[in-house]
Amino acid sequence: MIRIMKEFFLLETRGTAYCFRVTEQGFLQHLYYGRRLDLSGGWEALVPQVRHFPGNGAGLEGVCLEDMALEVSSPGLGDLRESMVTVRGPDGDTLTDFRFEGAEVLEEKPELEGLPSAYDEAGVCRTLRVSLLEKRGGLRLELLYTTFDRCDVITRSARLVNLGEKPVEVLRLLSSQVDFPEQKYLFTSFNGAWAREFEAVRTECGPGTIVGGSRTGCSSNRANPFVMLESRGTDEVHGECYGFHLLYSGDHFECACGNAYGKLRFLHGIQPEGFSWRLEPGESFYAPEAAMTCGWGAAEMSGNLHGFIREHVVRGWWKRRVRPVLVNSWESFYFRFTQKDLLRLARQGKELGAELFVLDDGWFGRRDNDRRSLGDWDITDRRKLPEGLGGLAKRVRALGIGFGLWVEPEMVSEDSELYRAHPDWALRVPGRSPARGRNQLVLDFSRQEVRDHIYAALKRVLSSADVSYVKWDMNRSLTDVASFCLEADRQGELFHRYVLGVYELQERLLADFPGLLLENCCSGGGRFDPGMLYYSPQIWTSDNTDAVDRLRIQEGTALIYPLSSMGAHVAACPSHTNGRVTPFATRGLVSLPGCFGYELDLTKLTEEELAMIPGQLENYRKYGPVFHGGDYYRLASYGENGEYDALMSVSKDKRTAVLDYVHVMSRQRRRSVLLPLRGLDEETLYRSSETGEVRSGAGWMYGGMVMPCMTGDSTGKLIVLEAV
Ligand code: DGJ
Repeated sequence: MIRIMKEFFLLETRGTAYCFRVTEQGFLQHLYYGRRLDLSGGWEALVPQVRHFPGNGAGLEGVCLEDMALEVSSPGLGDLRESMVTVRGPDGDTLTDFRFEGAEVLEEKPELEGLPSAYDEAGVCRTLRVSLLEKRGGLRLELLYTTFDRCDVITRSARLVNLGEKPVEVLRLLSSQVDFPEQKYLFTSFNGAWAREFEAVRTECGPGTIVGGSRTGCSSNRANPFVMLESRGTDEVHGECYGFHLLYSGDHFECACGNAYGKLRFLHGIQPEGFSWRLEPGESFYAPEAAMTCGWGAAEMSGNLHGFIREHVVRGWWKRRVRPVLVNSWESFYFRFTQKDLLRLARQGKELGAELFVLDDGWFGRRDNDRRSLGDWDITDRRKLPEGLGGLAKRVRALGIGFGLWVEPEMVSEDSELYRAHPDWALRVPGRSPARGRNQLVLDFSRQEVRDHIYAALKRVLSSADVSYVKWDMNRSLTDVASFCLEADRQGELFHRYVLGVYELQERLLADFPGLLLENCCSGGGRFDPGMLYYSPQIWTSDNTDAVDRLRIQEGTALIYPLSSMGAHVAACPSHTNGRVTPFATRGLVSLPGCFGYELDLTKLTEEELAMIPGQLENYRKYGPVFHGGDYYRLASYGENGEYDALMSVSKDKRTAVLDYVHVMSRQRRRSVLLPLRGLDEETLYRSSETGEVRSGAGWMYGGMVMPCMTGDSTGKLIVLEAV
């Protein structure tokens, strides 16, 4: 709900409130963000009393912006903190003085031009649009706030319009700014690298600035575009826990900036370094959408974000459907396969109950290694697939299993027909030998003709083979970022234009192939963000397919993203990532909560392993809807205790709960592991599939469940509680 009373604006969701006001001078003063409040005594009580005027701070019409909590800040007026908006005007200075112009409540959630943004199917969301005018009159800044009541999320975005007669240069337009009255928080970011994504890193806030973000051209595995600000001592169920998300897949920036007077500013948006955007008269620039939530304890925050992403970000036919069990060819064959090999794997997959066969890298051009052929999507490698892609797909489908395909549309190999024909289509700085990542170059997706060419080729390929699933990969960071087509003073637009180009192509793909299941991938989780989830309901979580490492990676991922978005496959052993040996059953348990599949040569399994597959598939079909559509709880973290891991999901009607327990390190214990369960209905009686014991929800939650004793490393159990 959104309420406006005199100069006050109050945004409320089921459990949170967000409040600001217009000051006498026309600034937007932030007043509150947190749990819902009783404001029956008047909203004025939220306005802080200013006791000290910062000694030598700059005063402006009786206020000192350096120590005022603001909804938006820009440089040049005395606010010494990082700013949300920086524009170089026609005179060359960056002073901008935005003052309140007007506000209205829209009965809808507007879309953002060319960008992914949250949507509201039920038509119940309301949006507050506040506009500010730059005092010299040449710019309008619009701030949009939408409340997503049930998941306690508020989205924000900003739009800058050039009302003047000359172009201006936007140096930054971040998506959101939240000023907190205190600095008592930990800034928790999710950092990592290839094959070790989503490691939580906690940094204490205080005076000074903590900066995070990405510079790879993608949202990146170095830092997810998500930050949690948690008060000290926060755990799963206690403590103030804010989550800040960005629906953006390119370079991003987040910072927590503590001033000298105890306040903390959080900013989130497109990475300003290297960014600039020339805004011509009459044009607008849209900042991507940011989403924020506030929960009591990390679990509530995660639950809010899961609900938000599942209901308001993920779209299309697959939105609420448990995804097909797939068999992927990559770790079975890498680049070396014949049609016979593929069919053998697909047949075995089908016989065991899989629903989709995915042909990964290596099928086009002369792709015998990663040095060649990217870009030649139209040329099937007939040495490997003598009947062409269509021929193979037909045979796969004749087995009674769907056909999926890997592509990497944003890339080009120098050894390719495409590059030979269009060397200027790759990003590179003229006269400089470009850096190569995975021996490939990046296509200039800011150019319409490049996107059109790639799209036309993709469309032909997908249509020719009746492909029902696409894995869209992206395997290097952007360097040498210069376009042959942009003017010199517009090169700063290129990173963002590239991302807009990726969005445009994925949107076209979904429009032309509405039932297509798209899975994004960026060497695993290198572009795992809500922007990509707007196009693909699932993302390959990590190239690290070792089950034990996956426990940590998936725990970090699931803190932010729903289990229904995580691609998770049973892979070969010893692990191709780290050589670890883990029992087949445990590999199944670790993958089960995600979008399940197999990433190994099923024809090489032992009889004992093969015999486990029907059970794994039965569990996925039965409990996938609970993992993917229910409420998720972290019961124990192997990353924290070094011994065992447990997660649990409870169906929305609270009739079924599934507990996925993995005991990684066998240790001599004094007593068995006892886990208090969560999320059950206190009064309902539930029977355990493990012991047959029946207890009330309260009994399981407060008395806890004793985990079965198992010997050996990396053992585990799936325990189901059904209401009786
Ligand atoms: C990186 C992906 O993450 C892998 O799963 C696989 O598709 C390879 N690329 C293929 O080159």
